[in-house]
Amino acid sequence: MQTRRLFFGVALPDALQQQIVSWRAQAFPADIGYPVAAANLHLTLAFLGDVHTEKATALSQLAARIRQPGFSLTLNDAGHWPRPGVVWLGTRQAPRGLLQLAALLRSQAARNGCHQSPQPFHPHITLLRGVTQPLSLPPRDFSFSCDITQFSLFQSMQTQGRTRYHLLDSWPLSE
Ligand code: 2AM
Repeated sequence: MQTRRLFFGVALPDALQQQIVSWRAQAFPADIGYPVAAANLHLTLAFLGDVHTEKATALSQLAARIRQPGFSLTLNDAGHWPRPGVVWLGTRQAPRGLLQLAALLRSQAARNGCHQSPQPFHPHITLLRGVTQPLSLPPRDFSFSCDITQFSLFQSMQTQGRTRYHLLDSWPLSE
């Protein structure tokens, strides 16, 4: 049976994606890695891996039952993970709502047989990939904010060697 590579995540508004891309261009040297396309900038809540339709349906039904208010996200931190070669944008103080939502989705995923990383959840938006050399991070004088009012299920697709995240379904964050 066919599988799809899926994850739950938070999409960023188009305007914020553009703001981040402009800031990235002046905050990091152009040639240090592969910049993630603006439309692909997102925050992963729970990675599901390659899953069959039945499991995706079950997890979507559980996601649809989540009742939780939205939250405000302030992106004011950046870092570099040399091993996966990722430069990321994150938050110095993760909102409780974000952590609760991720914990719930990750535990539902684990209970349905989707392996979850034993590493603690570190909310981040991947900005650059393939960055294995040490680099100096920009001063922490930046801050981007947005209200998160929904979360989504995405499919990670490879077309002509390019990754694209296709939004499959979304659910509101409101009590
Ligand atoms: P990354 O950006 O830190 O690589 C789609 O691939 C999304 O799922 C990306 O946000 C990616 O995180 C995340 N992802 C990919 N593989 C993963 C894994 N094995 N565990 C956790 N998250 C993963």
